[in-house]
Parts: sequence; structure tokens; C-alpha cells
Amino acid sequence: MARTEIRDADRAEVADFIERFWGSKISMSHGKAFYPHKEQGFVERRDGAIVGLLTYHLDEEGMEVLTLNSTLEGEGIGSSLMLNAIEAARKKGCRKIWLATTNDRLRVIEFYQRLGFRMTAINLGVVDEARKVKPQIPVVGERGVPVHDEVVMELAIEPYLDS
Ligand SMILES: CC(C)(COP(=O)(O)OP(=O)(O)OC[C@H]1O[C@@H](n2cnc3c(N)ncnc32)[C@H](O)[C@@H]1OP(=O)(O)O)[C@@H](O)C(=O)NCCC(=O)NCCS
Repeated sequence: MARTEIRDADRAEVADFIERFWGSKISMSHGKAFYPHKEQGFVERRDGAIVGLLTYHLDEEGMEVLTLNSTLEGEGIGSSLMLNAIEAARKKGCRKIWLATTNDRLRVIEFYQRLGFRMTAINLGVVDEARKVKPQIPVVGERGVPVHDEVVMELAIEPYLDS
């Protein structure tokens, strides 16, 4: 197992990985389009292949997690990538780490809550708008639930004092 920050040499493979799992290299969040493979993050490999990926964007609000994927579910990779991101956010002086997911993803919403995240907003219809830019976003999501809204999840963090 090897985990590193995303390096320039990883970017093409990271882009393919994101496209494979999300149908496009673009990630939509709060009406904005991001290219996660051009951003920062962590990549985990086994036998050279990517098995886990977290990407994030930093701005004055804090750290926004753009994508999180694990291909070996239930082995702790997803949680530990998120713990890495929380640690990185504290080192970078952020006071919050947040992300947007969709209304159908109830298991993921539970997963984030177990890590301490709270649901801070539901942005009605934002996913329907995002679909106009990224048509790959499914109309019907997990367990047959129609996908319309964005659920914002947020974790308040203490930045390290010297950051
Ligand atoms: C969510 C995800 C990153 C978790 O990664 P992981 O390596 O399995 O995570 P861990 O082993 O640390 O934790 C397991 C927990 O992940 C969640 N999980 C596992 N499989 C999942 C799946 N297919 N979809 C959503 N959540 C899942 C569950 O909460 C699980 O706990 P449980 O077994 O008690 O229900 C991974 O399942 C995944 O890549 N899902 C698809 C992409 C996705 O939904 N990403 C989040 C976008 S907002």
C-alpha cells in the first residue's frame, strides 16, 4: 500500500480514474465546474494501480473535497483518505472542510456523519442545473431515488496554531 499526494506524474491517470467513476473529468459543486485532476489531493495505490483517490480545492472558505473514491470498499481506505485531508486542512490553517453530495447518496451521507460531518445545507434543484453542464449526472441515483438536490456537509476543524 502506498499513499502519496497527487504529483504531476499522476495527473493523467487520476483524470482517467475520475472519468471512469464519475463519467466525466468535470466535477460540479454549488453550480461551479472543477477539474479535480488539476487540483490537490491524495492517491493510494496497490500494485501500482489506483485504489483510492481524494481531491480537494482550497480557497478562503477552507478545504472543499471534490471527489472521494475507493475501489476496495470496506477496508478503511475512504475513511483514512478523509482523515488525511482533515489533517492537511488543519496544517493549511483551514477552519472547515466541506463537500457537496447528492440527495440519493444516503450511505455516503451516513459515512460522512460518522466522520463528524454535519449537514449544513440542502441546495434545491442545484443538481438539475448542474446536469445541463454535465449531462453524465444520472437522473435516477442510488436505489432508484431521483437526483435533484445537493446536500452540503461540513466539518469544523481547529487549524494548527503555527499555520
Ligand atoms: C464512500 C467510499 C469512498 C467509502 O470508501 P471505503 O474505502 O469503502 O470506506 P471505509 O472502508 O473507510 O468505510 C466503509 C463505509 O463506507 C461506506 N460505503 C461502503 N460502500 C459504499 C458504497 N458503495 N457507497 C457509499 N458508501 C459506501 C459505508 O458507510 C461503509 O460503512 P458500513 O460498511 O458500516 O456501511 C466508497 O464506498 C466509494 O468510493 N463509493 C463510491 C463513490 C462515492 O460515493 N464517493 C463519495 C462521493 S460524495
